[in-house]
Amino acid sequence: MSEIKRAAVIGTGTMGPGMGAVLERAGIEVALYDVSDEALERARKGLDLARGVIERLETERTEGGDVRFETDLAAALEGADLVLEAVPEKLELKHEVFAEFERHVADDAILSSNTSGIPITKIAEGLAHPERVVGMHWSNPPQLIPMIEVIPGERTSDETIAAARGLIERVGYRASMLNKEVPGFVENRVLYAIMRECLALVDEGVIDAEELDLNVKWGIGYKLAVIPPMQLLDVAGLDIYESVANYLNSELSTEAGVSETITKLTEQGKLGIKAGGGLFDYSDDELAELPAKRAAALVAVRKTLDAQEV
Ligand SMILES: NC(=O)c1ccc[n+]([C@@H]2O[C@H](COP(=O)([O-])OP(=O)(O)OC[C@H]3O[C@@H](n4cnc5c(N)ncnc54)[C@H](O)[C@@H]3O)[C@@H](O)[C@H]2O)c1
Repeated sequence: MSEIKRAAVIGTGTMGPGMGAVLERAGIEVALYDVSDEALERARKGLDLARGVIERLETERTEGGDVRFETDLAAALEGADLVLEAVPEKLELKHEVFAEFERHVADDAILSSNTSGIPITKIAEGLAHPERVVGMHWSNPPQLIPMIEVIPGERTSDETIAAARGLIERVGYRASMLNKEVPGFVENRVLYAIMRECLALVDEGVIDAEELDLNVKWGIGYKLAVIPPMQLLDVAGLDIYESVANYLNSELSTEAGVSETITKLTEQGKLGIKAGGGLFDYSDDELAELPAKRAAALVAVRKTLDAQEV
């Protein structure tokens, strides 16, 4: 497989525009395609915002990259060496679009899915070339979080996996290589394990939501960005971990359902920022300022971590 020069991002909702901006910066010609004109219009703004963030990150720029918007799938896929699928999380829809991809791209083009958890093997079912289908799971916001999970399906070839890894490194991101697929892959499994325990502590009245956030952000959140879990075990001492885990693991939440803190709020339509409030209430000013403030903080932290790699 030769170097990826042209890519097509299919689906330009929350994730597509930022993915396009990252690829463009690395010198890749990108087509952004969506079935919805409205989504494509929003994607123009999303792309500009993402470009602005990447500029502030000062990531290396390779000449030759650009982004074009397409309303015709065949035109978007023409000459693509890599397809990045980012349509809604529905298996039937993924099947439909992957079948279309096969009709329009060369036999050696890589077909990636940004699925958050649908098995790659299932997505590749029925395709003529399942060996070139791979999970490339970006983290939101894609222009800021420099880690992409690479998930092989049962039939994904080593060549495809190597191409995905090569591309991720070329855009200056870290590839997190999974050996096999499991539900939720790795990032979401770890995140949901944290969320489950946090919500159980709130449900049980051990701590209030705001205090919980303070605890995690300034305690393990801050620490884990520098000393990740496996390294932290070595720091703590495996004997210490063993004795604590021996009494603590059996105390941790194993709740298979959803926390009542969440279900009570969703019943009232309090769905979070998109509904103006969820676990917390937000003023209009806060809602207007939060995304830019958080993006600025993430830019600053990422730059610091990049400079200090230990
Ligand atoms: N949002 C996240 O935080 C996040 C993070 C990682 C992975 N993902 C995954 O990425 C994928 C996309 O998620 P999203 O949040 O960007 O979704 P989204 O709903 O915001 O956007 C999906 C877009 O796909 C378009 N679309 C629908 N059918 C299409 C078709 N046939 N062809 C082309 N475009 C079509 C829609 O018009 C929409 O604009 C999902 O698989 C999701 O699980 C999402």
